[in-house]
Parts: sequence; structure tokens; C-alpha cells
Amino acid sequence: MSVQVEAGNPKLPEVRVNVATPTSPVVGKVVSTRPVTRGGRKSASFVRHVSFDVSGTPLAKSFRAGQSFGVLPPGTDSRGKPHKLRLYSLACPSTGDDGQGNVVATVCKRVLDEHWENHKLFIGVASNYICDLQEGDEALLTGPSGKRFILPENPSDHDYIFFATGTGIAPFRAMVLDLLNQRADARIVLIMGSPYTTDLLYDEEFTTWSKEHSNFRYLTAISREYVREEGASKIYVQERLNTNADELVPMLMNPRTLIYVCGIAGMEVGIIRQMAKLLPPEVFGQYVTVREGAGPIESLDRKEFGKVVHAGERLFLEVY
Ligand SMILES: Cc1cc2nc3c(=O)[nH]c(=O)nc-3n(C[C@H](O)[C@H](O)[C@H](O)COP(=O)(O)OP(=O)(O)OC[C@H]3O[C@@H](n4cnc5c(N)ncnc54)[C@H](O)[C@@H]3O)c2cc1C
Ligand SMILES: NC(=O)c1ccc[n+]([C@@H]2O[C@H](COP(=O)([O-])OP(=O)(O)OC[C@H]3O[C@@H](n4cnc5c(N)ncnc54)[C@H](OP(=O)(O)O)[C@@H]3O)[C@@H](O)[C@H]2O)c1
Repeated sequence: MSVQVEAGNPKLPEVRVNVATPTSPVVGKVVSTRPVTRGGRKSASFVRHVSFDVSGTPLAKSFRAGQSFGVLPPGTDSRGKPHKLRLYSLACPSTGDDGQGNVVATVCKRVLDEHWENHKLFIGVASNYICDLQEGDEALLTGPSGKRFILPENPSDHDYIFFATGTGIAPFRAMVLDLLNQRADARIVLIMGSPYTTDLLYDEEFTTWSKEHSNFRYLTAISREYVREEGASKIYVQERLNTNADELVPMLMNPRTLIYVCGIAGMEVGIIRQMAKLLPPEVFGQYVTVREGAGPIESLDRKEFGKVVHAGERLFLEVY
């Protein structure tokens, strides 16, 4: 099959970065904190939407959906050095949680585990600090950071497929809100992956918005509730390209469409492999570039994959 397609060539807007640095952070005051897992207390994970008032600081009105901000946890590490900053993606629109650009928000998951070395409780420093914060508490913030994982200058020139896993939903809550608030003339499909239904984040909001806005579609991929007896494999986000091919393949073929991927490192591999199966090479090549001579991407292991496969003009990746 040969198809002539003009590349989307999205023009990205200029954004501000690092208006607040680790040596001159701003003070953000917590104005709200709430759990956002669908199961509430039924979920095994603890994830909160936490909002900070940054009015009167350089960070106010200086951020854009898709960017992150830094949090400097108090205290020192095991070597006695001040804790390093951790980055958190904005989960609010570019106008902030308050609509005026004065309140930044993120979605933060507590990192809790057994320590690899000695099986004692492992408590992530910054995520637990953030989730412990109470209304009225103050925190040191930096940023914003990130210049490329943002919406294009003219959002109505494009349609969007957003793939999220876990807290990778943050930038997409922000972008979906920007697109809906600006009444962008764009189709938006959000595909959210979680281990269990109870771990879905902002599920009620997305469900409501999808009913209110005919241009917004919300799909989920739950990885651990498949029926083992039927021999079904895990449902990961890329599987929706198969199950919803009638809707998604024409979108992928359309030169307007841009793809954004955010969440767990490695999720991009399955998505890209699936796209390679579904799309003719000239269209696939607009999303992804593969180094010449690398061989078929199905045969590359994950390490090789990262070295030879790169995002093209119509694909935006942020996975950590
Ligand atoms: C651009 C960007 C945006 C991000 N956005 C978000 C966001 O919106 N929401 C969010 O929740 N997170 C986000 N993160 C992740 C976030 O920055 C932190 O990495 C995360 O919250 C963990 O930080 P922590 O201080 O709690 O954990 P840390 O104290 O830093 O501990 C985590 C580290 O400890 C080690 N570790 C983990 N488990 C164990 C174990 N069992 N035993 C021994 N060592 C272990 C690992 O090296 C791991 O990297 C983002 C990251 C990036 C780079
Ligand atoms: N801007 C950013 O870069 C940014 C922002 C926010 C978060 N993050 C990162 O995103 C990650 C989110 O973790 P989380 O604990 O919140 O997620 P989570 O709730 O555990 O959900 C992750 C989901 O992705 C599935 N998954 C695992 N490997 C996958 C793969 N290769 N392809 C597709 N799906 C896969 C998991 O399935 P199974 O576990 O059942 O296999 C699970 O359903 C963290 O690593 C965080 O640092 C990055």
C-alpha cells in the first residue's frame, strides 16, 4: 500500500523555563490536596492532586500544560547533602487550577516499597513529603521545565491521541483541559493504563468530560483484571490500537494527528511496535524514525530499541 501524506509539522510555542531555580526557589502554599484514585481508599496506591498557590512569585502565569515543576524536599540524604529536587508534571491547565495562572498542581503517587537490599520499608522522599503536606503548608518549588512536550501553537490544526500510564496522566489532564477550555476544533482520544480499575486517576472527571464533549473520547486499559482462564494477555494501552482500530487507525493515518506518550519507561516500545504493524511505512515514518540498517523493530530488544528508534515530528514522548 502506498499513501501520500503531508507531515503534520507542528509548530511549538515558545515557553518559559527555569524562572525559579534550585538556588532561588519560590514558596508555594498548599491550597488543596485530595485523593484521585477511582477506588478512593479501596486502591492499593495513594495518589493525590496537590495544588500550590504561587501568586506573586516568578512561577505565576509562567507555565504551560505539559511542563513540570520541581519540588525541593526539606532535609538531607544519607550522605548529609540536601535532598535533590524531584520533578512533577503539571496536572492543571496552563491557566492553573484557579484559572488565573496563580495555582499550580500536580498528581503525586506515594513511592512505597520493600527495600531491595534488606526488605525494610522503603519510603520515597519527595512523593511522601508532597502527599503528607496539609493545606496551608509551604513548599519550595522550581521550574518550569520542559520545552517540547507541549501542545502546538495552533491546537485546532491537529487531532490528538494521548497514551498515559499511571501518573503519566498528569500532562494529559492539563492538555485536555486546555483544549476543551479553548474550544479547540480537535478530536482528542485519551487512553489511560492502570493495574486495576480502582487505580484509574481522575476517572470520574474524564468520564464526565467525554459525555459533555463529543470531540473527547476516553478509553482505559486495565492490565491486571484480565481473565487468566481464557488465556488473555495483559491489556496495555497499545492494545487499544487493536480493539479500537476502526476509530484509531483512520486517525493515525490523518496528517492532522499527533501522538503524545507519558508514563512508565518502556511503554513507548509496545505502542511503536503496534503502530509499525498497523501503518504503511511512509506514515509510520512521520511518527518514528528508525536508524538505517537497524533491522525490523519487532526483533530489537528494549536496550537496542532506545538507541535506534526515535520520535519523529508527530510523536511526543515523555517516559521515566
Ligand atoms: C519529567 C518528570 C515528571 C514527573 N512527574 C511526576 C508526576 O506528575 N507524579 C509523580 O508521582 N511522579 C512524577 N515523576 C517522578 C518523580 O520525579 C519522582 O521520581 C517520584 O515521585 C519518586 O520520588 P521520591 O523522592 O518519592 O522517591 P526517591 O526517594 O527518589 O526514591 C525513588 C528512587 O529510589 C530507588 N528505589 C525505588 N524503590 C526502591 C526500593 N524498593 N529499594 C531501594 N531503592 C529503591 C530508585 O532508584 C528510585 O529512583 C516525574 C519524573 C520526571 C522525570
Ligand atoms: N512527565 C513524566 O515523564 C512523567 C509524569 C508522571 C509520571 N511519570 C512516570 O510514570 C510512571 C507511572 O508509574 P505509576 O506507578 O503511576 O503507574 P501504575 O499505576 O503502576 O500504572 C502503570 C501501568 O502501566 C502498565 N505497564 C507496565 N509496563 C508497561 C509497558 N511496557 N507498556 C505499557 N504498559 C505498561 C502497568 O501494568 P502492570 O504493572 O500490570 O504490568 C500498569 O497498568 C512512573 O515511573 C513515573 O515516574 C513520568
